[in-house]
Amino acid sequence: MDNKNYYITTPIYYPSGNPHMGHAYSSIIADVFARFKRLDGYNVFFLTGTDEHGLKIQKSAEKNNKKPKDFCDNISKIFKNLTKSLNLSNDDFIRTTEERHHKAVQFLWEKLQSKGYIYLSKYKGWYSVSDEAYYNEDEIAEKDGKKISTISGSLVDWVEEESFFFKLSSFQNKLLEFYNKNPKFILPISRKNEVISFVKRGLKDLSVSRKSFSWGIKVPNDKKHIIYVWLDALTNYISALNYPNLEDKLFKNFWPATLHIIGKDILRFHAIYWPAFLLAADIKPPNRVYGHGWILSDKEKMSKSKGNILDPLEVIKIYGLDQLRYYLVKEVSFGNDGNISDKNIENCINSDLANNYGNFCQRTFSFVEKNCKNTVPSDIDFNPEDLKILNSFNNNIDKIRSLMDNQQLNEYIKFIIDKSSNANKYFNDEAPWNKKDDKKRLNTIVYVSLEIIRKISILLLPVIPCSANKALTYLGLNTKTLKLSSITDHLINKPGTKIINQGILFQKVEKNND
Ligand code: ME8
Ligand code: MG
Repeated sequence: MDNKNYYITTPIYYPSGNPHMGHAYSSIIADVFARFKRLDGYNVFFLTGTDEHGLKIQKSAEKNNKKPKDFCDNISKIFKNLTKSLNLSNDDFIRTTEERHHKAVQFLWEKLQSKGYIYLSKYKGWYSVSDEAYYNEDEIAEKDGKKISTISGSLVDWVEEESFFFKLSSFQNKLLEFYNKNPKFILPISRKNEVISFVKRGLKDLSVSRKSFSWGIKVPNDKKHIIYVWLDALTNYISALNYPNLEDKLFKNFWPATLHIIGKDILRFHAIYWPAFLLAADIKPPNRVYGHGWILSDKEKMSKSKGNILDPLEVIKIYGLDQLRYYLVKEVSFGNDGNISDKNIENCINSDLANNYGNFCQRTFSFVEKNCKNTVPSDIDFNPEDLKILNSFNNNIDKIRSLMDNQQLNEYIKFIIDKSSNANKYFNDEAPWNKKDDKKRLNTIVYVSLEIIRKISILLLPVIPCSANKALTYLGLNTKTLKLSSITDHLINKPGTKIINQGILFQKVEKNND
């Protein structure tokens, strides 16, 4: 059966500091997929939010002389505002301090306990507060006299305390079987292999409660214990669907999730712990976890100490939102690390947006203005060249869908940019300005060009929603009702429609430095 529901999530971010470009990246990527699927007629649920419990947050609040809840209220609001600044189309924004989430986490805990997967013992080992993660002895090294995790580079502390454990060890084979049966559960493939070899080396039971601090959700029936922040956080993906009400429409429609978009730093939690918790509670694991790479700032990982944290709002102020969105989608090879620098972003805006897509729109619209009284021409007759370029869209619709269903974002953009280059070439080769005494041919070239603008702009809607929407509005089209499938039709622009050209879509960036 064709499942027309699509559930996509971002990580829920720690409101321990202001959002930066890395957070913006995950969110924009998820938004592109959400918008694409909506455009293709899917019923989409897109979730993001903030992860507000645990020692990391408690300590950050203390440093700022604030109560944890007040501290979180403040920064969570900044994350929420960012969803507006990035023009995200999220359907919900969850905070783990909300009542709906508390109930879901405590219910899940009780479920795991009633099935015999939780027992009380004592944890002795390494813990990183900044990652909120336990590390094995073989993942620890010494640097400048301090113990760090070799996985993340974060400082670790030795912890010994009474703790509840989740029987993760009994899921080793079940997980391997699950990965085997669902070969695209973890993408990209390189990271899937990392996860599988980690699981094959053997899973130890996981400490899932802490006693030495108070900021979190209490263990039902043992209020001295706080539920481990990752068991708490991961549950957001179902608490937003009104779990534990399995009959709720949201849960029924959208679980299992289609896609969790995350960074590679939190793959272990999503690809090992999360499906194990769910399998233990008789809930289906999600369909896919995609662990993307790092956004680097001038070739280095962003960090507060290096002072190279990129603020998305600053970049948007300089270049524009759609410019940033386009750049992140186009220039970062999805799955790998990607660098962000002024020079790259300027080149990208100029070559793809201003000189390619923007230019094609601009020259077509000006030509229509001067030669066709600013209206979509009638009296047209497609020749084989026209049909060839128009058909290059409809012949590829299945390919386009499959690219997006496999998160091949760069190929998707490449398809669009190739089409845009072809369109510019078509306009040059056909030279409508030389056809003034063959009105029918001139009209046809203009009509074909307007159709190409329409098709390309539809494909760009998920990536640069404002600008693509603008181009489509110039054509008198209503983007709210437009569907992806309309790119297979060549006759959507209605002859006689007034073109409302309100100026160029993308300014070229003037480069002052280099
Ligand atoms: O880990 N490049 O929250 P977090 C690309 N609360 N993406 C980046 C990035 C960078 N330089 N820096 C951060 C947590 N990210 C948990 C998640 S989910 C149930 C709980 C993105 O605030 C990337 O998606 O540390 C990464 O996984 C996430 O932000 C970590 O955000
Ligand atoms: Mg982090």
